[in-house]
Amino acid sequence: MVKISPSVLTADFLELSESIKRLEEAGVDMLHLDVMDGIFVPNISFGVPVISSIKKHTALPCDVHLMIDKPHRYLKEFAAVSDYLGFHYEAGSDVAETLKEIRNLGCKSCLTIKPCTAPEEIFEYLPLCDMVLVMSVEPGFGGQKFMPEALGKLSALKKEIVDRKLNVLLEVDGGINAETAPLAIKAGADVLVAGNYIFSADDMGARVKEIKAL
Ligand code: DX5
Ligand code: ZN
Repeated sequence: MVKISPSVLTADFLELSESIKRLEEAGVDMLHLDVMDGIFVPNISFGVPVISSIKKHTALPCDVHLMIDKPHRYLKEFAAVSDYLGFHYEAGSDVAETLKEIRNLGCKSCLTIKPCTAPEEIFEYLPLCDMVLVMSVEPGFGGQKFMPEALGKLSALKKEIVDRKLNVLLEVDGGINAETAPLAIKAGADVLVAGNYIFSADDMGARVKEIKAL
């Protein structure tokens, strides 16, 4: 069954603990936390203090998506509040060293690629990854349209993971909804990030169950 990692980016932050409670009841698998620095992406979101508060209120694993420049500078701080800690291949840190460091700090490592990056570029790093995240929108904002090019990338990565018998989860992020979720699952996604689609629902719980039933 596909795992769901709701992105809280578009949530009402003053109601976050109530929303997280409802997500827990709905059976989501983790919480996706989008960290943006205004440099790597043209938007600023939140950082360690907010994630630290969220972590105190939930037993759900925190799936932290760093959209920050030179992420190796902040690994220790984020590792302390993350379960999965992901960074961008394009963000200017040594990829292998950063993946190893994340594991050394006790987190699961996740390597993320933007729409401009070909999946083949990261094949060599797969043994150092616990998860790979394929962006299906340009990182920076919630509520964008799914880019169908992501489907081919998911399939190529899935094939490589299966052929090499690696234990790597495949996650997709951006524009997931009732139409795109089944396509992403078919292409090999194990984990779906969904922000707007879940937070815009009248009944978040029902919407999570709908996706899980796909
Ligand atoms: C975009 C973020 C996503 C985004 C998902 O930079 O990484 O996690 O918030 O939101 P939706 O599902 O609304 O595209
Ligand atoms: Zn994200």
